[in-house]
Amino acid sequence: MGEPVEIAEFGGGRHPGWPARLGPLTVPAGVVELRPPRLFDAGAWSRIRVRERSYLENWEPTAPGSWEERNGVLAWPSQWSALRSLARRGQTLPFMIMVDGVLAGQVTVGNVLRGSLRSAWVGYWVDSEVTGGGVATAATAMVVDHCFRHAALHRIEATVRPENTPSVRVLTKLGFREEGLFRRYLDVAGGWRDHICFALTAEEVTGGLVDRLVQAGRARHA
Ligand code: ACO
Repeated sequence: MGEPVEIAEFGGGRHPGWPARLGPLTVPAGVVELRPPRLFDAGAWSRIRVRERSYLENWEPTAPGSWEERNGVLAWPSQWSALRSLARRGQTLPFMIMVDGVLAGQVTVGNVLRGSLRSAWVGYWVDSEVTGGGVATAATAMVVDHCFRHAALHRIEATVRPENTPSVRVLTKLGFREEGLFRRYLDVAGGWRDHICFALTAEEVTGGLVDRLVQAGRARHA
């Protein structure tokens, strides 16, 4: 077992494990840390999202409005507010990915269901300027460990288009188990797209995903 990587600021609300700051964890791209979204992320968030349109649009759910309307500076306050209120209600754990202290993407745990299901999905995007350096893998590992240890979840699911090789690689590197193909599952880039469903349950990650990455030489505790 390595050193614990989570430094969580637990709230006393209805949502176990929220709010939290996770990391740091060092990967080839830099030092990765996760923190809750802030209102003043608007400028940095929008600059990346507008610049990366062609790279992100193919993989993200179709939504009303133009890319600029949905990703301009003025779009952030309502997105931030929605994420904050969903997080406070216990329905999501939204994190900003920081690499060497600079905003570089988002990783979100959504559709948190409690009761006898205790499951959620995870999704992510990373600025193309730092891709290929282990950022999404580190961020997902930290989030999944946090969900199983502190957010009282039992199952985390990730759905990905078969053509999205980097994302499939992120999940398989972490040991996510392929469960099957969801046909015409999600409206992405203007059409109903097949998605592979990957999942992990808490019993499958004894020791934690971060420790697995460290032991495999893919990351080190910063
Ligand atoms: N063919 C094969 N492997 C590839 C390719 C390719 N064309 N491109 C990248 N890879 C590999 C990388 O080499 C790396 O594997 P390795 O560590 O074994 O070398 C892996 O894919 C990527 O791992 P990371 O470096 O941890 O991931 P990264 O920080 O680059 O982020 C991500 C990956 C999030 C998919 C990024 O490319 C991105 O933001 N894409 C656009 C948005 C997106 O697709 N989001 C995911 C949607 S699905 C979901 O959220 C569950």
